[in-house]
Amino acid sequence: KQIQWYPGHMAKAQREIESKVKLVDIVIELVDARAPFSTHNPELDYMIKNKPRLYILTKKDLADPKATDALIAEFKRQGHSAIAVDLKNFKEEKKIVNMCRYQLKEKREKEAARGLKPKPIRALVAGIPNVGKSTFINKIAKRKAAAVGNKPGVTKAQQIIRVDKDFELFDTPGVLEPKFTDINKAMNVALCGSIKMEILPLDDLFIHAIGYLAKHYPEKLKERYNLTIDLDSDWVLPVYDHISDYRHIKKLRGETDYDRVQETFFNDLKNASLGRITWELSDE
Ligand code: G4P
Repeated sequence: KQIQWYPGHMAKAQREIESKVKLVDIVIELVDARAPFSTHNPELDYMIKNKPRLYILTKKDLADPKATDALIAEFKRQGHSAIAVDLKNFKEEKKIVNMCRYQLKEKREKEAARGLKPKPIRALVAGIPNVGKSTFINKIAKRKAAAVGNKPGVTKAQQIIRVDKDFELFDTPGVLEPKFTDINKAMNVALCGSIKMEILPLDDLFIHAIGYLAKHYPEKLKERYNLTIDLDSDWVLPVYDHISDYRHIKKLRGETDYDRVQETFFNDLKNASLGRITWELSDE
């Protein structure tokens, strides 16, 4: 008997994706440009086996542009096809369809050589929560949102949308569980909003984020909080006190209100008040 590694609902979600993957030519995996490796689900690699995949790094408008370029280059170095987009200002529909066509070119040529009728490319959009799957599907299907209709092997709820003459996708995405191999990755996923921050120890998340910013984006801390951190010093409590004073956060019986300081900082991050930040610079 097989050992069950996952809770039932997760096994079900995984089976659903596996069965959908069988019906498509390519998987479009959406990841967050601010932490593309952390927001990738490594189990998808096993689910899609040898199927082609395109990585779309979403929310590039929130990410550090230089870092995005470097990360796209790293994806390519790893042999992947990848592109970064801002779905709020989406212009890459054609490019994405062409990237999929390119990956399927050889397969289609082989099929043609065997005398098979040309088939449209069928794609599945997948990704962990909040990476922009629904937004992407809605945008890419905008003009031709009419479903192609039910096909054998596709349940009624599953509609196929034709995006271009030779390109179709499922109208519902494959929702993947956020998966991380270490606590830093989990924190990056939380900083991108794909898991609730509250499931992690918030003081650790605060220290992780501030420490990272002090190392990689010190100018943003300076600008937003007039804060300069010497990472070799005992900086944590002084940083809480500094932000508390600088932002006039009400004290609790004369003491810094640590929870309120964290809340203020996390709200600033959620509102992108510190500017464009990328939370991981390579796949470590
Ligand atoms: P999901 O299906 O993968 O769960 O993600 P969904 O499309 O619902 O998008 C999650 C949130 O991320 C939405 O914000 C959406 O607008 C936002 N989003 C998606 N792509 C981008 C992007 O490229 N750039 C930016 N800046 N935001 C993006 P929301 O807060 O739920 O709604 P709203 O802000 O649109 O009102």
